[in-house]
Amino acid sequence: MEITKAVFPVAGLGTRFLPATKASPKEMLTVVDKPLIQYAVEEAIAAGVKDLIFVTSVHKRAIEDHFDKNFELEYNLEQKQKRELLEVVRNILPKGVNCAYVRQREALGLGHAVLCAKPLVGNEPFAVLLADDLISNPTGDGALSQMVAQYYYQKCGVIAVQNVPKKDTGSYGIVKTRQDESIEAIVEKPKPEKAPSTKAVVGRYILTPEIFTHLENIPTGAGGEIQLTDAIARLIKTQRLIAYPFEGVRYDCGDKLGFLMANFELAKQDPILGEKFIQRVKASMEKDKNR
Ligand code: UTP
Repeated sequence: MEITKAVFPVAGLGTRFLPATKASPKEMLTVVDKPLIQYAVEEAIAAGVKDLIFVTSVHKRAIEDHFDKNFELEYNLEQKQKRELLEVVRNILPKGVNCAYVRQREALGLGHAVLCAKPLVGNEPFAVLLADDLISNPTGDGALSQMVAQYYYQKCGVIAVQNVPKKDTGSYGIVKTRQDESIEAIVEKPKPEKAPSTKAVVGRYILTPEIFTHLENIPTGAGGEIQLTDAIARLIKTQRLIAYPFEGVRYDCGDKLGFLMANFELAKQDPILGEKFIQRVKASMEKDKNR
């Protein structure tokens, strides 16, 4: 079955970015000139997704508005003959791509957020993308496209993983894999001494609809939340699921340092800004050295 639906859980509180996220969504934080959520949406569309399902909460209106038509703005740009900008605004979503929104009334965890999308996903395999994991692969396919190819080839669910330093395992879901990359065990946020490996789950998944049954039945897990990891731990008892070390650079934009690095690196690569940005940064560092 084709992967045409993607779920974007965007209902978290984003406390690590307060006060920026007090009244506006973390997913609308901007890297160079695009909000985080747009990077994730573009990656999904490039992978063949047609139905975008956003799991939202209060104070997330800006996300709905971003993917909706803005008549006033388009009229204004048209009147002022700002054609390039008009195209930018009009092309945020290509034709044939639909948006649907469902509310998570309480931030009960990522697993719970995914479960909220069940009525819209139905009985088919689907992707999950966490916009705060920005994955850049300028010279090749996006991470989700690579995973979709694996899904067709291996005919099973796929979870993106990346090696992390051992001291950081407590911040991730960590997987233990067999030789064929199928997942044997998955643990949420283990301490380094208890971690089965250093392969960390990052925010891209292709899951089968059976995950919903497990999400409905698991108890509250780490941090008092319904954890997607715990449901996956049950799913792998009956289904093959592979861990996929995608190609590309991942920036943890849920964290201030990761977010700043994403801006720094993507600004350097920007075709219009890049050169000037690098010159300014160099000049600034020289100045600091001579102080
Ligand atoms: P995080 O663990 O980064 O949580 O969620 P958060 O609330 O967004 O941020 P902090 O830790 O308070 O700073 C990972 C992803 O899961 C979504 C978030 O929106 C983010 O995309 N999420 C998390 C939900 O949609 N609902 C939840 O209940 C929890």
